Amino acid sequence: MRLALMASGTGSNVEVLLSEKQSGKLPLVDWVLLGCDRLDAPVIQKARSKVLKTWVHSPSEFAEKTHYEKSLHQVLTEQEVDGIVLAGYMRLIGPALLEHWQGRIINLHPSLLPSFPGQHSIQDALKYRVKLTGCTVHFVDEGIDTGPIIAQESVPIFSTDTKETLTKRIHQAEYSLLPKTVRRWSEGGFYLKDKIVHFVDEVGETI
Ligand code: GAR
Repeated sequence: MRLALMASGTGSNVEVLLSEKQSGKLPLVDWVLLGCDRLDAPVIQKARSKVLKTWVHSPSEFAEKTHYEKSLHQVLTEQEVDGIVLAGYMRLIGPALLEHWQGRIINLHPSLLPSFPGQHSIQDALKYRVKLTGCTVHFVDEGIDTGPIIAQESVPIFSTDTKETLTKRIHQAEYSLLPKTVRRWSEGGFYLKDKIVHFVDEVGETI
């Protein structure tokens, strides 16, 4: 499976995915592209030598977001990409990409969706004093973190937690959940049909 990664910042999840490939744990995955919307994002240096191509462009370079997305679509098509993994990509996917890629984009989110969508999930979980949060991998649709859920892992919240300690614990859960999910995806373990995630066997359901 020829996969693209999209990220906007630090890229610790991208790093984990790339090293899982290097250590042979994602045998059916080829990381062919890193797409990034921030010219100064640390993820670019982390990934540059480990993917076939990097595409780094800010939407502000284009007259409209549609043009940015069409340019990205073009490179995804040229690289014969089969699917896209959003690993810390902080932008909403717009119609110009979705029309071609719906059902082929998965996103990592740091909460147990549908609780706490958006950009402040970790702070929101602390603010609401929930006892349990976590991370989710889901197919992307037109909404903000609303797409069909593929896999989740829960993380407890302790009364002593700060944003930093909780973020660290959620990251640990992400480093296990995202590679497992990508692996199952590359094995054909699940797919999206009629807005529902179908698992091909019981193993898939327990990602
Ligand atoms: C991750 O925690 C990911 O779940 C989150 O950004 C972080 C990126 O960290 N994604 C979102 O919030 C998407 N809405 P990283 O750059 O160190 O992988």
